[in-house]
Amino acid sequence: MDLTQGSKVILIGTGSVGSSYAYALMNQGLCSELVLIDINEKKAKGDVKDLNHGVLYAPSTMKIKFGTYEECKDAAIVVLCAGVAQKPGETRLDLVNKNMKIFESIVKSVMETGFNGIFLVATNPVDILSYATWKFSGLPKERVIGSGTILDSARFRHLLAQEFGVTPTSVHGYIIGEHGDSELAVWSSANISGNPIAPQLTEERKNEIFAEVRDAAYEIIEAKGATYYGIAMGLARITKAILRDEDVVLPVSTLLNGEYGYEDVYIGVPTVINRKGAVKIIELSLDNQERERLSKSIATLKEIQDPFWK
Ligand code: LAC
Repeated sequence: MDLTQGSKVILIGTGSVGSSYAYALMNQGLCSELVLIDINEKKAKGDVKDLNHGVLYAPSTMKIKFGTYEECKDAAIVVLCAGVAQKPGETRLDLVNKNMKIFESIVKSVMETGFNGIFLVATNPVDILSYATWKFSGLPKERVIGSGTILDSARFRHLLAQEFGVTPTSVHGYIIGEHGDSELAVWSSANISGNPIAPQLTEERKNEIFAEVRDAAYEIIEAKGATYYGIAMGLARITKAILRDEDVVLPVSTLLNGEYGYEDVYIGVPTVINRKGAVKIIELSLDNQERERLSKSIATLKEIQDPFWK
């Protein structure tokens, strides 16, 4: 991978999540060039115009344009937000058949351009579609990253911050596993400045907090039709980690290759992110209950995923 590639980002899918992500990139001045691609050209071109009218007030200039897949050939990152989103009452796993077909077409079109950068996957079910992107693209595993549990972990840290009266950046803790109903909270290592959190909470309160994290998307979708600001910020955080070559640890969806005793599945775990992609999994020490829950989460994903690759 040519690490000197510029900071050109391609966004495929300019729905609520994609356009919120584009807005976050502009607001944070994270890339020099952003190309929007969507089957709804009119909407994407409208977003391009709208965003360009805000560049003047952004922290740094940014070329924003509508484009075709050809723009991918020299891009650093292609972000996949295209596909159908959850409707009220739908699980993320319900979307798999429709989005797998869409992804096969998109990823093959991107690879035909000679793209040699990093895929960042947001569309749900994100773990299964990240695995599919890795298979369809043939890229090394570190260059296909899913948003994973970056948003779930942010929800977890937000609720614990409220519980203990500190800011979320001072709460350290992870949600890992499927970005979905089988995810799990790693209570055994959650802490505030090294102070373990779990002993300070009853089992009932821990279960309440975790349920609020796990079910947050359902509640927001019920209230406003979709979620997009939180995931857009998580995607922008991963983008920054890549383009700034940060070596930061983020809970993204990456391929297990023996870690936690499993392989051949993409799942949300703390991983080192830099300009080369998701380069190293930092394995958490889990208690027995957490190991069991992770095992169930992996089984849930494999049950859905494996039939597609038989
Ligand atoms: C959510 C979507 C991004 O959790 O799956 O809000």
